[in-house]
Amino acid sequence: MNTILSLNNLNKTYEGGFEALKDINLEIRRGEIFALLGPNGAGKTTLINSVCGLVMPTSGQIHFDGKDIAGDFRYARERIGLVPQELCTDAFETPWDTVHFSRGLFGKPRDGAYVEQVLRNLSLWDKRKNMIRTLSGGMKRRVMIAKALSHEPQLLFLDEPTAGVDVELRKGMWDQVRALQKTGVTIILTTHYIDEAEEMADRIGIISQGELILVDRKEDLIKKLGRKEMILDLLEPLQDLPAGLSRFDLTLSDDRRRLSYTFDSAAEDNGIAQLLSGLLKAGYECRDINTKQSSLEEIFISLVNKK
Ligand SMILES: Nc1ncnc2c1ncn2[C@@H]1O[C@H](COP(=O)(O)OP(=O)(O)O)[C@@H](O)[C@H]1O
Ligand SMILES: [Mg+2]
Repeated sequence: MNTILSLNNLNKTYEGGFEALKDINLEIRRGEIFALLGPNGAGKTTLINSVCGLVMPTSGQIHFDGKDIAGDFRYARERIGLVPQELCTDAFETPWDTVHFSRGLFGKPRDGAYVEQVLRNLSLWDKRKNMIRTLSGGMKRRVMIAKALSHEPQLLFLDEPTAGVDVELRKGMWDQVRALQKTGVTIILTTHYIDEAEEMADRIGIISQGELILVDRKEDLIKKLGRKEMILDLLEPLQDLPAGLSRFDLTLSDDRRRLSYTFDSAAEDNGIAQLLSGLLKAGYECRDINTKQSSLEEIFISLVNKK
């Protein structure tokens, strides 16, 4: 089956009446990296915790592998790993012991070869016998990932895996997550860093105030919603906008030498040809032309602000 997880009409209203999730519908495909992108307080952790059994949804269904989680929670629990937002490691344990212990908690037989592979994949092998409290923050985070992988989950949740991690280490973490995907694990990560979603994800869901505003493949998201801007540097300052060009979405710079035209990059007829010929007819020539695709960041900010 291609869908590993599906959420249907999922709602969570916390005690006191706060609606943290509003009618969430989402399907996660086996093998993908899915980024749930949204500002602080959007409901990302609530969504993850609902799947992991740490939050009780108010209504709606969650199916893992086609099985209703509420009906067969054990099945899901054995196959899902969670790296929570807060670091909580056993300071006086070693990575080697803590991962073995975690695996034991899930009732899995001891497997030195598997644990070795997990620690090697996360570049923790050299540190396997060091006390966790002596490791760096980035290493501790990786120990958490190793623990979450101890029972060979098919689906791994990473809740803000790089919040508070410095830029250098974030890149390293992204590489580790990609390597995990290659081992066949489906990954759902939450982030409020746009560049992280843009860099990592196959698909992105944008969540704001408990609503999943949209879900799309990263490339399609940028293509579909992306507005493109064309900047025309004119040889002569433009006195008045030629009458025939009033239908275009144009902005003129203060010195009247730079005209910018915003258009829908997905539209069949983007109007560029008409704009250029209209300018020429009116006697204006261009010295230079540049185009710029709006980034995911601009899309995200405009969507979240619209709400
Ligand atoms: N146990 C709780 N009781 C009441 N409100 C909560 C509780 N947990 C979270 N919230 C609220 O729900 C909203 C979503 O929180 P959360 O899911 O942690 O967001 P995110 O992970 O996207 O930052 C926030 O406004 C938060 O204050
Ligand atoms: Mg959170």
